[in-house]
Amino acid sequence: MNVKDSIALVTGANRGLGARLVDQLLDAGASKVYATARDPRGIASTVSGDARVSVLALDVTDQSSVDAAAKVATDVTLLVNNAGVLGFGSALEGDLDLFQRDTLTNQIGLLRVSRAFIPILTANAPGAIVNVLTLIALAPVVGMAGYCASKAAAHSITQSLRAELRDNDIEVVGAYPGGIDTDMLAGVDAEKAAPEVVAERIVAGVVAGQTVIWPDDASAGASSVYLGDPMGLERVLAG
Ligand SMILES: NC(=O)c1ccc[n+]([C@@H]2O[C@H](COP(=O)([O-])OP(=O)(O)OC[C@H]3O[C@@H](n4cnc5c(N)ncnc54)[C@H](OP(=O)(O)O)[C@@H]3O)[C@@H](O)[C@H]2O)c1
Repeated sequence: MNVKDSIALVTGANRGLGARLVDQLLDAGASKVYATARDPRGIASTVSGDARVSVLALDVTDQSSVDAAAKVATDVTLLVNNAGVLGFGSALEGDLDLFQRDTLTNQIGLLRVSRAFIPILTANAPGAIVNVLTLIALAPVVGMAGYCASKAAAHSITQSLRAELRDNDIEVVGAYPGGIDTDMLAGVDAEKAAPEVVAERIVAGVVAGQTVIWPDDASAGASSVYLGDPMGLERVLAG
């Protein structure tokens, strides 16, 4: 999709990857970006000071919040479902309340926002939905079982949306990063890509018309294992 002159909306744009995605969309020539957050006061002034940025409240788990945002942002052509949470825990012992929170945010929240904006994207077509998933949606790592399951479900929803929107002139794109150096992984000792780099590669992938984006070196390397031998990736990530 041509990002230049697009009108984008990014969820979870107040920090981490979402904030960098706003920067990259602006750099790529988006004519407007709705930078949304649960608490819009958290949107950095460097971003909100740009005349092309509109700041909006949007909690992906709250239908009335999503509906209110969709009432305002009726000109969107590019929806970026970035908001996410990670509750640590194993499949056997992890806190099920955290598993549920991850599901409600990462799977149902993504779908809730997509459903609200699909009529808008269809009316303004051509357009795109970009879902920020993760490499570990495709095979889990130890200690993040609920998160991985919620992202695996979001990966499946992405595939369903792609099929169901085939005739709406809406591309449905999945991005599958490896570890990123944001608050989400603070304290975890792992290889992490800079969020600026991941955001830049996601936007470049959208511009290049990629349906599946591996936006960092670790995920690009792992993708060839996954594509050749899905069980091989499962063995690698399970340690
Ligand atoms: N970090 C990684 O290693 C990594 C790797 C692969 C994929 N990802 C994915 O990348 C995306 C961005 O994560 P990040 O690394 O930037 O993490 P982050 O720094 O923890 O940021 C998460 C963002 O999601 C927002 N959010 C959480 N719940 C929300 C809700 N109910 N409604 C609206 N916004 C909500 C947060 O807003 P608040 O400030 O209000 O909490 C924050 O803006 C996520 O989908 C994540 O799963 C991350």
